[in-house]
Amino acid sequence: MDEHVSEAIARPDLIDLGAGLLCLRFESMKVASALAAVRHLLDTGAVRPGDTLMDSSSGIYAYGLALAAHRYGLRCHIIGSTTIDHTLRLQLAVLGATLEQMPPSDDLGLDQNRRVRRVKQVLREHPDYHWMRQYHDTVHGLGYRAVADRIREEAGAGPLTLVGGVGSGASTGALARYLRQSAPDTPLVGVQPFGSVTFGSDHVTDPQILIAGIGSSIPFGNVEHTLYDTVHWTGFDAALAGSVDLLRRHAVFAGLSTGAAYLVARWEASADPGRRVVFVAADTGHRYVESVFARHGQAPEVADLSPREVGDLKELAPPWCRMEWGRQPAPDQAVHLAD
Ligand SMILES: Cc1ncc(COP(=O)(O)O)c(C=O)c1O
Repeated sequence: MDEHVSEAIARPDLIDLGAGLLCLRFESMKVASALAAVRHLLDTGAVRPGDTLMDSSSGIYAYGLALAAHRYGLRCHIIGSTTIDHTLRLQLAVLGATLEQMPPSDDLGLDQNRRVRRVKQVLREHPDYHWMRQYHDTVHGLGYRAVADRIREEAGAGPLTLVGGVGSGASTGALARYLRQSAPDTPLVGVQPFGSVTFGSDHVTDPQILIAGIGSSIPFGNVEHTLYDTVHWTGFDAALAGSVDLLRRHAVFAGLSTGAAYLVARWEASADPGRRVVFVAADTGHRYVESVFARHGQAPEVADLSPREVGDLKELAPPWCRMEWGRQPAPDQAVHLAD
């Protein structure tokens, strides 16, 4: 039996959707990451009960950290993106976490830069706060070991490909690393929005870049580029088509990064029928009711969509591109220098 609800939420479901597709379905993925990270910090004496954990978040990490703080008797202070919604704001408040939210802005790059500046200011005011650094500290991968073990146990011994959206890079990177301990050839496919610096699409303007949680306007230390075999970039409409089809065809109600990952996983599974493809569903669809599901009538048919294969980042353009990344290192603009 679990001792705290965070332990239940940290355990995803693995659902066989047929046609070689496996859905790794989280209610809120970063609970798995934050819980194990905080446990590790307590075990190593880096933090003690009663201390304050702080970080910047655009949504699901704030929830994960607040639950981990609640579980282990710590305080939690969040520098939140403008995208944190009313439902999460209220949960954070009742859970006892404090939230400083950035002013409304359509420019997510500006929002992210503001948060980074504010984190540094708060640290100057409260040097005793522990800055979690979810984008850079490798402790955020630890929670995915149990998830990878579960995939291996339940999916059996056949060859697997892993597909997932890349934000901080902690989930896809850690899952691939753990899966490769027993199957070193496991391919890793990362999913990005256009306009993200992480895999060098920052020169492509996409007015609809907003796919919550994936992509970035600044370099992240936790993205290990040399783990990724393939990268796909999808625009908002393609991701929306994926989210709507996943609900319609498979009854899985999940968010927009999941929609993009599902679209990509379908394509990768049909291109290589010998492998099963596990895709990460990081959150549920509730946050996307108005922006995605209310527009289900406008969703293109997924079967009509396919990626344009590119050999060079200069060729990237919406709505959907695919590139053999070939485990190359980070492009210059995505190299993370120490803070
Ligand atoms: C909805 C959603 N999907 C995917 C991701 C990507 O996860 P990671 O940060 O582990 O790369 C995030 C991260 O915040 C997210 O919020």
